Amino acid sequence: MTVSPFLVLALLFASLPSCALSAPNQTPKQLHSQAISLAQAGSYEESLKYFRAAVRGAPENFNYLNDLGVTEMRVKDFTKAASRFLEAAYLTGGAYDVVLENLEELKAFLDPVEWQDIETDWWAERPTETSTPDQQRHKVRSLPVVSYDDMLDPRNETAAAFLLGDHPYVLTDAMNHWDLSAYETPSLVADFGSSRVDYYPQNMKEETVKPFFSQLESAIGNFENPDGTVYANVDASRRNTYIQWNVDYFDWEKLKDKGMDLPPMFTSDDDWINECFGEYDKKNKDNFLIKTHWRMVLIGQKGAGMFNHKDTLQSSSFQAQVKGRKRWHLCSNAESKNLYKAGDVDTFSPNYEKFPKALDLDCFDVVVHTGEMIYYPPNYWHQTRNLDDVTMSVSGTLVTKGNKAGISREFRRECDTNQRVRIFHPEEKLCAGLSKCYDIWERKSWAEDLAAHMEDVQAQRAIKPEL
Ligand SMILES: *[C@@H]1O[C@H](CO)[C@@H](O)[C@H](O)[C@H]1NC(C)=O
Repeated sequence: MTVSPFLVLALLFASLPSCALSAPNQTPKQLHSQAISLAQAGSYEESLKYFRAAVRGAPENFNYLNDLGVTEMRVKDFTKAASRFLEAAYLTGGAYDVVLENLEELKAFLDPVEWQDIETDWWAERPTETSTPDQQRHKVRSLPVVSYDDMLDPRNETAAAFLLGDHPYVLTDAMNHWDLSAYETPSLVADFGSSRVDYYPQNMKEETVKPFFSQLESAIGNFENPDGTVYANVDASRRNTYIQWNVDYFDWEKLKDKGMDLPPMFTSDDDWINECFGEYDKKNKDNFLIKTHWRMVLIGQKGAGMFNHKDTLQSSSFQAQVKGRKRWHLCSNAESKNLYKAGDVDTFSPNYEKFPKALDLDCFDVVVHTGEMIYYPPNYWHQTRNLDDVTMSVSGTLVTKGNKAGISREFRRECDTNQRVRIFHPEEKLCAGLSKCYDIWERKSWAEDLAAHMEDVQAQRAIKPEL
């Protein structure tokens, strides 16, 4: 017997209490009830906002998913409806007949190729530590793992080879003494609530997605207590929200006060930022830091991530994983010939028919866990996906001995008024500061400076009393 999805929806309605309220911060249950009332009154589009917010708040509730799918079918959004039924079927291990019947019903509206694509995409987007051999047919290896203790050991040449930042690696044991409770959301809101962030309710998997400008407090509030009405034009159901907090000078200092103690490889910019932009000129320093997204805290839900790309400035970066796990796919510049344009290849599950050169890729695929850091040199392609709810990392851009020439060239281009604007409009003060930087980077004894800082850390560790 085939049950019409509409009939199923009607049955579900009958068993629910009828109520209509619109208080702020409604529970998923309240949002769902409101959605049902709206759908019963025939306002499907309006009801979708509330169904989606309910699903967002209770992502494992297969009834909510099913009802959302049924309503999406009513407005003929078959692709979305399919993803709801697939998710609900997955959550229930295929044991919930209503969902399976709705799936069958839906398939009748789609041609087999369309259906195949929808199913493949749905599987590809799942946040998993590895891909199946079917999904990822190119070569991936694991990234070298280096312990900070070994880097501090002058006799360990293997570890020392990573110091100057010419190779990508995962760094362990460098955050053991950090107080990670500072990154629990109540703590972040208490300390940095009014800081300005870019809020992406819909993640950053496509380059065209534009953020909302918000304060950290309201972005996190939305993230945790979704209110259907806020998402007038976006599908709030998918828990892949992304908050990109471009950290200014004082907030970075404050993060240090809260226990962010970065190893010397990742702090060389502290000195030259003051020298180039003026130690007491907070405005000028912030202008540089914010416009270049030099330092960021990235907060995302499970499934959120950044599309495959390489950084415009030819800079290097590190990320300190302060909460949750994040999966990374990294490829060196030598793989550019196989990667098409930014965002084209989903490296976790490439469409090899559309992008056949991706079959020749030879890259890294690694999961970075809480308390670990990852570093990548300039011109490395990277794609990320958060595996936990919530996943959070602190990220910084770096100038190194190996990338200073490239970065200087890129900034000179930004400051040349005849060039196309990519990152910032060339402002006199900012560009004057950068001119100073080029000299400083050129003169700096990178290896010696770093060695001296590492020795300081070793000395401090040596005199630290045993507890
Ligand atoms: C040197 O460091 C590497 C990377 O952390 C480590 O795998 C290796 O065991 C270390 N060697 C010695 C002799 O400690």
